[in-house]
Amino acid sequence: MEVTRQKKYNNPVTATLTGISDLFRKHVPAGELKPSDRLEGKTVLVDGSSSGLGFAIAVDVARRGARVIMACRSGVPEMAEKVKKLSGSPDVHILHVDFSDIRSIKQLVVNLRSPSLCGDGPGEGSKIDILICNAGIVPKESRKTPQGLEEMFMVNYFSKFIFVNLLIENQCFSNGGTALPDRNSKLEIGNSNIPRIIFIASESHRNPEKFEWNDFGKYRDYKIGKSIELYGYYKLLLTTFSVELSRRLNPDCKTNFSVLSMCPGPVNSNIAREAPKAFIPLLKTVFGIFFKSPAKAAIPAVYLAASKDFNGIPFDYLFLMSRKEVDEKAADPENGKRLWDLSQNLWKELDGSYRHY
Ligand SMILES: NC(=O)c1ccc[n+]([C@@H]2O[C@H](COP(=O)([O-])OP(=O)(O)OC[C@H]3O[C@@H](n4cnc5c(N)ncnc54)[C@H](OP(=O)(O)O)[C@@H]3O)[C@@H](O)[C@H]2O)c1
Repeated sequence: MEVTRQKKYNNPVTATLTGISDLFRKHVPAGELKPSDRLEGKTVLVDGSSSGLGFAIAVDVARRGARVIMACRSGVPEMAEKVKKLSGSPDVHILHVDFSDIRSIKQLVVNLRSPSLCGDGPGEGSKIDILICNAGIVPKESRKTPQGLEEMFMVNYFSKFIFVNLLIENQCFSNGGTALPDRNSKLEIGNSNIPRIIFIASESHRNPEKFEWNDFGKYRDYKIGKSIELYGYYKLLLTTFSVELSRRLNPDCKTNFSVLSMCPGPVNSNIAREAPKAFIPLLKTVFGIFFKSPAKAAIPAVYLAASKDFNGIPFDYLFLMSRKEVDEKAADPENGKRLWDLSQNLWKELDGSYRHY
């Protein structure tokens, strides 16, 4: 039986098979990551970098000379020491964040602005040149966050909306990053100082048939069987957000931020850590044989971060190293606006009450 577009990522088995078959398809690369793609003088923030893909990205960008800030829920500070050791760079820093908790995201932004971060002396902490939003989960069941949201919705989508908006509002990016950049900004297309915001998305964003606007942000109960399907839905929200973010940050055909998104393909990471215990040995074997190592899977993300090919590009999406259009639902400006408005309203609602928690 042929697996239809809508069924490809509906359960762990078809999702794994789809991931494997995608790896064996022919892909035309958009370009290549070169040893000369260096990041000296750039500050790269990689979140969810205590494990898997994020950790491998942190090591690679540190090797390329970037100052690295890891934003992690666990492994603070020891994972930074590991990145230092593997990359040979001492310029690696780590901050705690739990993306399931709005208070923790706010605290991360406060910490990022702290003068003491990276030992920069007086003034603000390091400004971010390249942000890599990587943290993600596939939970075995629904769980409530401290603010009453569903955890996968929060970690895989909504935390990114909040985090990116807070970073822009607080001028944490190297261009000053006003939310609506003024039209006289000196940044021109082709200027390599344009900050990059990179989202680790997934091809599974193509799977959902439609948006469920009426249920936006509402807590829902589910078990592992539904988890993979919802994972694709939240990646659709993330991808729609990334396109809309680029639209809003780059009005009038002028690039103020490069918003870049990608699917790394199947990665032999810890993403399936919550799979039923009986399946774990099998999954480990399949992942070990067929899936890419995190270091290899990191290449497209590092390419987006370091290559001159993306200078002045307002938006791009890669699957592995190939350029692709995002799903038409994600590209539709009406969907982008609707998602933005709903997200902003939810954010306002939660922020108003968040002090009571
Ligand atoms: N693996 C794949 O086949 C695949 C395919 C396509 C896309 N992706 C995407 O790639 C990204 C990285 O995943 P991975 O495969 O490398 O999985 P992973 O090894 O499980 O890494 C996930 C990272 O996210 C962090 N994280 C989870 N919940 C968090 C929270 N509440 N606050 C802060 N950090 C949190 C984890 O931190 P802890 O260590 O503290 O748990 C970990 O560092 C995800 O966005 C995933 O959706 C993966």
